[in-house]
This record gives sequence, C-alpha cells and structure tokens, in this order.
Amino acid sequence: MDDSYLQASLIELKKQRNALILAHNYQNNEIQEVADHVGDSLALSRLAAEASEDVIVFCGVHFMAESAALLSPGKTVLLPAADAGCPLADMATPDMVKEWRRRYPRATVVAYINSSAAVKAESDICCTSANVIQVLRSLPDKEIIFLPDQNLGAYAASQVPEKTIHLWPGYCPVHHQVEVHEVLAAKKLAPSSEVEVLAHPECRPVILTHADFVGSTTRIIEQAGRSKARHFVILTEKGVLYELKKRYPEKHFYFPAKDLVCPDMKRISLQQIVTTLQEMKPVISVPEPVCSRARRALERMLNL
Ligand code: 13P
Ligand code: SF4
Repeated sequence: MDDSYLQASLIELKKQRNALILAHNYQNNEIQEVADHVGDSLALSRLAAEASEDVIVFCGVHFMAESAALLSPGKTVLLPAADAGCPLADMATPDMVKEWRRRYPRATVVAYINSSAAVKAESDICCTSANVIQVLRSLPDKEIIFLPDQNLGAYAASQVPEKTIHLWPGYCPVHHQVEVHEVLAAKKLAPSSEVEVLAHPECRPVILTHADFVGSTTRIIEQAGRSKARHFVILTEKGVLYELKKRYPEKHFYFPAKDLVCPDMKRISLQQIVTTLQEMKPVISVPEPVCSRARRALERMLNL
C-alpha cells in the first residue's frame, strides 16, 4: 500500500479509536510526518501524562511506551513494533540494582528513563538527558548511584561536582561508538571554521570535550536554531535530521562517517501503525506492584 493510502487510513482510524500518536525524534521520517507530537523522552512523557485521548500509539522503543503506560493509567498504550527494545535499558536489572544498594547503602538511586519499569521500581527517582542536572541538584543526598548509562552519568558528574556519583557500566551502542577522529573529519566537511558541534550526552566524555553544546535530542534541535552558526556537526542518532532540515532549511548538518542509526528506533513503519490501531495490539502495560513503584519514581521527576 502506498503512503498516501496509509496516511488516509490512519486519519480515519485515529478518529475511530480516539488515539494520539507520539513519536520520538529518532523515528523514520514518515512516522514523524504523521505523529501528533514529536519530541525527546521528557516531552513525550509529559504529553503521555497529560493526554485526554483513550489510546496512545507510542512510536519509539519499549521503555518509552512503558513510561507512557505508567503515567497514563486507564489508557491503552500501543507500541507498533513489540520488538523495539533498547540495549542500554537492558544493561540494568532489578536484582543488579538491589545488589548496588547493598554496596552503597546511603546512596540515592537515579534511573535514566532508558530503563525498564522493573528497574525504575527499584529506584528513587528518574531523569532524562534533558533534566539530569536539575534532578541531581534537587536531591538532598550527596551520594548517588546513577544507572544505567556511564556516559550520561559522567557528564552529569562533571556538571554537579558536589555529588559523589557511582557510575553504572552501561552504554548506548549507537552513541558510544563515536570516535574523536570522526568528529574532526565531520568538522572538516564544513566549508568554514564557523561550525558548531552539538552532542548527545550518551556520547563518551572524550567526545563531549569536542562539543560546543551538549543536550537531549530536542535541545540539540533547538540549539541549531538559536545559534548564529550555519554549519553543525550532529552527534546523535540520524533521525533528528528530519526536524533539523524542516526547521532550518538554510543550515547545513554533518554526521560522523559511521552511520549513527538505532535499529530499534527504526522498526516502526506506517503500515505497522495502521495495523496496530486496527488490531489494538500490542498493548504495553505494567502489572502491580511494579507499576505503582515505578510510577512514583517517574512522577517524582515530573513534579520537580
Ligand atoms: P532523548 O531523551 O534525548 O530524546 O534521548 C533518548 C535516547 O534514547 C537517546 O539515545
Ligand atoms: Fe537505546 Fe541508544 Fe537506541 Fe537510544 S539510541 S533507544 S539509548 S539504543
């Protein structure tokens, strides 16, 4: 079926089901085009919490749909590709969190939103890449266990030196692979020296020393608009290019030679969204008692 037919079916189904389509900045272009809202993890969590529709179709990965389900009880949350996971989120389990708590009994556990609901349930508060510094500063305790991303944790530790942060050894396979020589080569692609490097904090600390700006996917997109520069090296997943080109057609964007593509984020197609709404599955839900405990950690973050 062609895209225009699928788009027309989708409009019809959305009305029938009273559904809202949320999409992450890394989704395929045709998904970003049909979504009601496109954003970073923080914005999408807020939108899910405030949604008035009966159904939320979450175009992202499993932990994001799970967070939407936690924050919008009573609604049906659908994830069009049931196998869209996050290898970073899989690097922490509830048993591991319990073990780290035994090792550091006085520490507060901060879980990056890129974690399962079961891990969130064992944590004190969540954060995203957009609010990690605000979350850490809000905590009365000095000692923190930060999980599961060592790079985001190291970046946050550099910004909040008054805290003692125990870093979990997880990493995002997409961002962790960026090399310094690739950043320098991408900078050379710009015709002038007036080039800014915008990086996601999931990149390694050595990469962030080459960045002019560090932030979440949405903050990167906003910074490209705010900056006077016309050329940008973008150090995050390539899906952000859709919005960057749409908003700033006069600006130029360069990526490292190694393709920064998250295969899990690319699993959803337009056809799958249509099928999901027709069949009303796969539904993402979180059973009790995990649900209440994980929600508490997420709401503590959103209430800041
Ligand atoms: P953002 O929260 O910045 O959108 O990033 C989510 C993510 O999965 C980054 O790899
Ligand atoms: Fe997970 Fe990395 Fe993909 Fe983000 S880009 S969803 S952290 S694997």
